[in-house]
Amino acid sequence: MKKNILIVLLIVLALYGRSFAQTGQRITLEEPRKTGGMPLMEALDNRQSIRSFSRDELSSQDLSNLLWSAFGINREDGRRTAPSARNWQPFDIYLIMADGWYVYEPTDHSLIRLGEEDLREYAGGQDFVRTAPVNLFYVSDYERISAVRPEMRELHSATDVGFIAQNVYLFCASEGLATVVRGAIDRDMLHEVLNLRPEQRVILGQTVGYPDSR
Ligand SMILES: Cc1cc2nc3c(=O)[nH]c(=O)nc-3n(C[C@H](O)[C@H](O)[C@H](O)COP(=O)(O)O)c2cc1C
Repeated sequence: MKKNILIVLLIVLALYGRSFAQTGQRITLEEPRKTGGMPLMEALDNRQSIRSFSRDELSSQDLSNLLWSAFGINREDGRRTAPSARNWQPFDIYLIMADGWYVYEPTDHSLIRLGEEDLREYAGGQDFVRTAPVNLFYVSDYERISAVRPEMRELHSATDVGFIAQNVYLFCASEGLATVVRGAIDRDMLHEVLNLRPEQRVILGQTVGYPDSR
């Protein structure tokens, strides 16, 4: 009996230890593939919002390519695949996936795991959000644009985010992935569950996955 209790205790400790170790863990993404893809004019012709997603996880290569396309670094001076007013780069990309929630770190193209919970129930009201593999959240850090008037912070955030979302649309069109950008999100709730600082603002969400019909 005592032995069984000990075994249970050891399992609980091991599980607790695992979750403790994994939160905050840096996950290096695959090297993004920067060649190939569909000709731009065909990608523009295919760009559309799709709201029907397979439950399949994205492959590690697709996830890497997606994040680099969205807002990765494409020049040695740290500039990005999307333009940013005065190069302030206020945006971070948070990800809610089945196995946890993350933030994208562009400097070394990695993900920081912020927690292991499946937060998809908080990712939006539309049904597909709970089963699609990836929900991106574009979070503007007003601290990085504190030099401008408050209304200009909103303007710059609203304009910068459009380029990031469109990069994702074009990448998805090129690779045959499904995506839809989403403004219908509970920003206060997301602010809380993503444990954001007061200066951070969730601007838009974007769901990505393989199309349901593939
Ligand atoms: C700022 C913004 C917010 C949007 N919010 C949502 C949303 O919450 N849910 C949704 O299903 N589609 C959303 N959409 C997608 C639009 O409904 C879609 O782009 C529009 O119907 C045109 O379709 P298309 O993207 O296939 O051309 C949003 C689009 C934009 C630009």
